[in-house]
Amino acid sequence: MDDKLKANRENWDERVPLHAASSFYDVEGFKAGRMTLDSLETGELGDVTGKTLLHLQCHFGLGTLSWARLGAIATGMDFSAKGIALARKLAEELNLPAKFICSDLYDLPNQLDERFDIVFTSYGVLTWLPDLKGWARVVARFLKPGGTFFIAEIHPFAMTLLDEEVTELRFHYPYFQKGSMRFDDLGSYATERTDTRNNTTYEWMYPLGEVVTALIEAGLRVETLREFPQCCYQMLPFMVQGEDGFWYLPENRDALPFTFTIKATLPE
Ligand SMILES: C[S@@+](CC[C@H](N)C(=O)[O-])C[C@H]1O[C@@H](n2cnc3c(N)ncnc32)[C@H](O)[C@@H]1O
Repeated sequence: MDDKLKANRENWDERVPLHAASSFYDVEGFKAGRMTLDSLETGELGDVTGKTLLHLQCHFGLGTLSWARLGAIATGMDFSAKGIALARKLAEELNLPAKFICSDLYDLPNQLDERFDIVFTSYGVLTWLPDLKGWARVVARFLKPGGTFFIAEIHPFAMTLLDEEVTELRFHYPYFQKGSMRFDDLGSYATERTDTRNNTTYEWMYPLGEVVTALIEAGLRVETLREFPQCCYQMLPFMVQGEDGFWYLPENRDALPFTFTIKATLPE
């Protein structure tokens, strides 16, 4: 694993206990039955009862365990050993039949020899990946012929606006950013804590066209590509929460895209 991914993994390992204690992830609410998947994540997959589902980059498993609660035979994977250990602990405590694998995404084909009805991934995943085409090949590798891939992700256009301090809409990053960007931010989106030590991360930005093209080149057939003005979290400090729980721009809420979803299938 290269140094950038090692730095990212140390950062995510440190985030796990902070996130597990945060109101953002609300683990106690989850234990009491709260689902963490929102309507954009679940909407297009329909009834998953009895279907095998691989969840890529599952963090500490709340999404994967939510799929298990919905009846899927779920497997979660993530490269954070702390995240996977906590996911396994939660699965055992809640008696949910999900499996978890600790692996770098690109090494998963060496760790897992299985194909799934559904490969799923969501929110804040692509930015951590140095090789988008390699990611798409991993997706294709784990789908059964006729299987479905689904992603719900922060829209890359919205990523150009991202800055925790902003008071108005302003471009910060180019949409067509090449190569990695280094950040040294304290804490994370889910915690007020700033006493973190592994703060250096490396992230990548992928225009929407590159994401779709990578999936097509990996052999998938794209069925739907949708864009939405709502965001799963308060990405900009002046966004306001709607009655549906999503976050919107305060005025002219339909002005810009904050989320996209893609549904694709692997031809038989
Ligand atoms: C923002 S989380 C996404 C999970 C989900 N949306 C959530 O909020 O629980 C990103 C996840 O990607 C994982 N990750 C980053 N790079 C990875 C890699 N190369 N291989 C596997 N997992 C990776 C991190 O450990 C983290 O758990």
